[in-house]
Amino acid sequence: MTVIKAALLGFGTVGQGVYEAVQTHGEQLKELFGAELSIEAILVKDLSKHRNGVPETLLTDDFEHIISIPDLQVVFEAIVGEEPGLSYLKRSIQSGCHVITANKVMFARHGASLLKEAEEAGVSVGFEATTAGGAPVIRTISELLKVNRIQSVEGILNGTSNFILSVMREQGLSFEQALELAQQKGYAEADPSADVEGFDAYNKLMILSQLAFGEQPDWKIEDVEGISSITPEQVTEASNRGFRFKHIVRAEQTEQGITASVKPVLLTEEHPLYSVEGVINAVTVSASLAGLVTVQGAGAGKLPTASAMVEDAAALAGKLNLNSTVQSQYA
Ligand code: NAP
Ligand code: HSE
Repeated sequence: MTVIKAALLGFGTVGQGVYEAVQTHGEQLKELFGAELSIEAILVKDLSKHRNGVPETLLTDDFEHIISIPDLQVVFEAIVGEEPGLSYLKRSIQSGCHVITANKVMFARHGASLLKEAEEAGVSVGFEATTAGGAPVIRTISELLKVNRIQSVEGILNGTSNFILSVMREQGLSFEQALELAQQKGYAEADPSADVEGFDAYNKLMILSQLAFGEQPDWKIEDVEGISSITPEQVTEASNRGFRFKHIVRAEQTEQGITASVKPVLLTEEHPLYSVEGVINAVTVSASLAGLVTVQGAGAGKLPTASAMVEDAAALAGKLNLNSTVQSQYA
């Protein structure tokens, strides 16, 4: 059988979502590619963990096994933290693979150099899943607003924080109860302090800033504010006065350079982000010709994030090698 060989690095919430999406949407991918996308191996850290719904023969804890798969063309990466994801993606690019990542911590710091290396190697880097989950904000800016000058980006970029603020207000849960619920639903990071202290939203804003303005603000992570100190009493009092707390990121191109902020803000009903509730993210881009363009959708979770990654894979149609002699080890 003719296949396009792919590998998956990480099999947590996101990795499992990608595997499931490739199985359940294989026909659509096959139609786009003219060949089947086949996950040939999955990298995990702990091989002894029990995994449901995946053949054991696919699992490995050895990246060398992955990178030595003959004719490997696509590497999906959904590992936590800067390393080893960065090194694995660099090796994959050097080996001529297209790479697709959800790893925003890594991409916020190394995205620009990774993109340069990929360009030199003639391969692509998909990073839609790093920012706003299933809401296609990366593609909107990079492909649909190419001529426009971007003046600002503003939005809600952490699904966990928005979910917590919503259920504290709607269900009267404590911060701790709301966070536990977000963790159960697979929205929160392995270390949820990244979500609730604002660092996750900061990383995503850095990715958007690089994309929209070609640079990141000269600005310190110490200035980032999260939602962890907001109490249920404050949420209720704000609500009674007609306000809602929202965790808002903003970056703007000014004559002095790029200004940025990441902090909780009290919004009134008139504000477009007031009604964005639950795990939903929303980003409004102010563009020189188009005006205000808003992209909104599920900002975290297994399938919305996997959706962004398989859509990045779909964008590889026409760039892949369809050598009919390539055989899957599982065909
Ligand atoms: P997760 O559930 O904690 O899963 C992480 C996976 O990476 C696990 O399978 C783990 O292996 C594997 N792993 C960790 N360290 C490794 C290492 N050194 N070598 C090989 N494998 C390693 O995390 P997740 O929620 O899927 O998130 C994955 C990435 O996507 C993160 O960068 C996250 O920030 C990003 N992201 C997450 C979401 C979301 O909604 N969850 C959305 C967008 C982006 P074991 O299974 O053996 O422990
Ligand atoms: N922990 C992240 C969030 C996952 O809640 O937004 C999506 O990037």
